[in-house]
Amino acid sequence: MNPFESKRVLLGVTGSIACYKAVDLASKLTQLGIKVDVVLSDAATKFVAPLTFQSVTGRRAYTDQDLWGPEGHVLHVGLSKDADLIVIAPVTANTLAKLANGQADNLITLAALAGTVPLLLAPAMDGGMYDHPATQQNLRSLTERGAHIVGPVSGHLASGLSGQGRMTEPSELVGHIRCLLGAKGPLAGRKVVVTAGGTQEAIDPVRVIANRSSGKQGYALAQAAIDLGAGVTLVSAPTALTAPFGVNLVAITSAEEMLDATLQATKGADALLMAAAVADFRVTNSSQKKIKRAGGVPDLELETNPDILQAVTNASRPKVIVGFAAESDDLLKNAAHKLESKNLDLIVANDIRAVDAGFEVDTNRVTLIDRSGSKEELALMSKEDVARIVLERVVKLLR
Ligand code: CTP
Repeated sequence: MNPFESKRVLLGVTGSIACYKAVDLASKLTQLGIKVDVVLSDAATKFVAPLTFQSVTGRRAYTDQDLWGPEGHVLHVGLSKDADLIVIAPVTANTLAKLANGQADNLITLAALAGTVPLLLAPAMDGGMYDHPATQQNLRSLTERGAHIVGPVSGHLASGLSGQGRMTEPSELVGHIRCLLGAKGPLAGRKVVVTAGGTQEAIDPVRVIANRSSGKQGYALAQAAIDLGAGVTLVSAPTALTAPFGVNLVAITSAEEMLDATLQATKGADALLMAAAVADFRVTNSSQKKIKRAGGVPDLELETNPDILQAVTNASRPKVIVGFAAESDDLLKNAAHKLESKNLDLIVANDIRAVDAGFEVDTNRVTLIDRSGSKEELALMSKEDVARIVLERVVKLLR
């Protein structure tokens, strides 16, 4: 079940050149399954047409004409009542001033005034307008009243000047929106720890023993837990990924660092999702100085790293522990053995020989095995969908 399919966002768009980015935002939210009702101010329609939004959301986009049109009867109340969240992106200095003072002279400010749901504002304006004491005071009073203000960020402005005034990028706004929409989900009040990525073991200051884990499945699990309202700590080995908005990111490098961070994070946690590919061995005699080629082939001695799942089980075991098994042979037999020997509630087994599953790719083909021995073989799907299904299992196990 996609948690966003039942969600509605009222997206207000006001008159700024950043309107073109609002189209991308509306598209991204729609792709998540959210129903997006767009309301454009008169000024916004000078930058971008309602049809553009309708084309990406598949739903009617409203303008101030609708306020006075035949269907206009308390339209503003209906739109805000049906929404789970009101987002105004971009919000101009003028609309901020109106919102701060409870003025409502167009459809979007009327809907915001009538609404009782959370309000997220993404300001966009020239740097001087943003710095003006009036704008700053308006932002302060809106924050005090509980509005979530995201941005603006610094950089090139339409005026040709450089300064703080650019609307936050849509992908980042989506992170904030997911967090707000998930807040009352089935994992609200729960503490979930996710480990991700492949640990690195130093050989010398330049070289490491690494593995092919990209961290994609672990990061997708962290996002899926946020989407259901959990408080998430993501213990991550080095990856090229951006942590989902709302997670508490603990960046580590080696297996030993991951052990310490995971033991710390799982104190009082409800669930641990151990998606990281932990190096089984580390170099005993790693060098503080760069090993020189001229010295010949180095003699590397290895020792075994601690088993993190074992250590967590022996310390303060969370109610639910999910392990992962990436195998090249005897997938189900090996995974079932790990489930038992590591005392797990669920194991996610994936066959790393498949080209469309496992390391680095965006898709995965996994089998879930639980304590009772029951197996659920999932079809090939995105790592996001795998994460959603694993988190649904976590919700059930926590009940
Ligand atoms: N794991 C762990 N600590 C380790 C190694 C693995 O907590 N030192 C966790 C992994 O994060 C994963 C599960 O144990 O959730 C299985 O990992 P895997 O590498 O498949 O298992 P190993 O016990 O290392 O067995 P092997 O490498 O021999 O298959």
